[in-house]
Amino acid sequence: MENPVVEVLEIIKERRSIRKYKTKPVENEKINKVLEAARLAPSANNQQPWHFILVTKPEAKESLRAAFKPERQWLMQAPAIICRMRRSKESLEKK
Ligand SMILES: Cc1cc2nc3c(=O)[nH]c(=O)nc-3n(C[C@H](O)[C@H](O)[C@H](O)COP(=O)(O)O)c2cc1C
Repeated sequence: MENPVVEVLEIIKERRSIRKYKTKPVENEKINKVLEAARLAPSANNQQPWHFILVTKPEAKESLRAAFKPERQWLMQAPAIICRMRRSKESLEKK
């Protein structure tokens, strides 16, 4: 790693929003890396007020359809959807 700041900047410049997806399943290794990156995100008081739910089964994905506005239904084509849930105030107080 020559200059990590430059490398991160290059990655940020290269990223783009995807609106069409391949049907092949996403490898667990890739999903785990994404979840690892999300898990390491900073949060106020380090509360980490989130849960992640990985949705891949068609019937489970179908149950999310109503959550996507009509103009965002293309999200249903994604072979894997990670839902970020906010932990409840009560569960945060228990931490
Ligand atoms: C909070 C948020 C909501 C977004 N909602 C939509 C959306 O409903 N439809 C869509 O096509 N793109 C959506 N986008 C993607 C933006 O349009 C996209 O980031 C912008 O066009 C820049 O393109 P890029 O992400 O490929 O650089 C959303 C992005 C964010 C951060």
